[in-house]
Amino acid sequence: MIWVVRQLRAENIRVTQFDERLRKVTDDLLQSMYASEGMGLAAPQVGINERIMVFNAEAGSKPRSLILSTEKVLINPDITGTSADTELGEEGCLSFPRVFGNVARHTWIDVRYQSITGEERAERFEGNAAVVFQHEYDHLDGVLFIDKLVPQDKTRNRLHLERLIRQYGPDGAI
Ligand code: CO
Repeated sequence: MIWVVRQLRAENIRVTQFDERLRKVTDDLLQSMYASEGMGLAAPQVGINERIMVFNAEAGSKPRSLILSTEKVLINPDITGTSADTELGEEGCLSFPRVFGNVARHTWIDVRYQSITGEERAERFEGNAAVVFQHEYDHLDGVLFIDKLVPQDKTRNRLHLERLIRQYGPDGAI
């Protein structure tokens, strides 16, 4: 997994071409996500600064063939509504190995996005899917979960983060 902070902070452009290349990008994202035992992955995490994300809130529990119905590919997602309530939950990120901590997220979220073929879709995500969506959506705005950790978890992870920066540099790759 690439860890390039400059790329994670860069602007991500909207997708305009719903072509074979886009299908290849999303296939690669899904492959990498499952191979790394993650629940979601956003294009900037693999060096592609475009508004593309994939996730599967059931990933890790069962083989991929049994959880295809919860697999999501979202192109150009926009948030159209959120719950007033938020809940704290522990998160990690494939771009920050060994860093874990609590982040507050809306309990449900209404989303508009385009499918892999460019069709407009609207959907409400709840529970774990809402959490994973919000984490990946933040990536598309250059926001990282380490920015949002509750203060005690920021402190707890400081050594890990400093070690990653020492080892790979602020723009390092692993
Ligand atoms: Co992440």
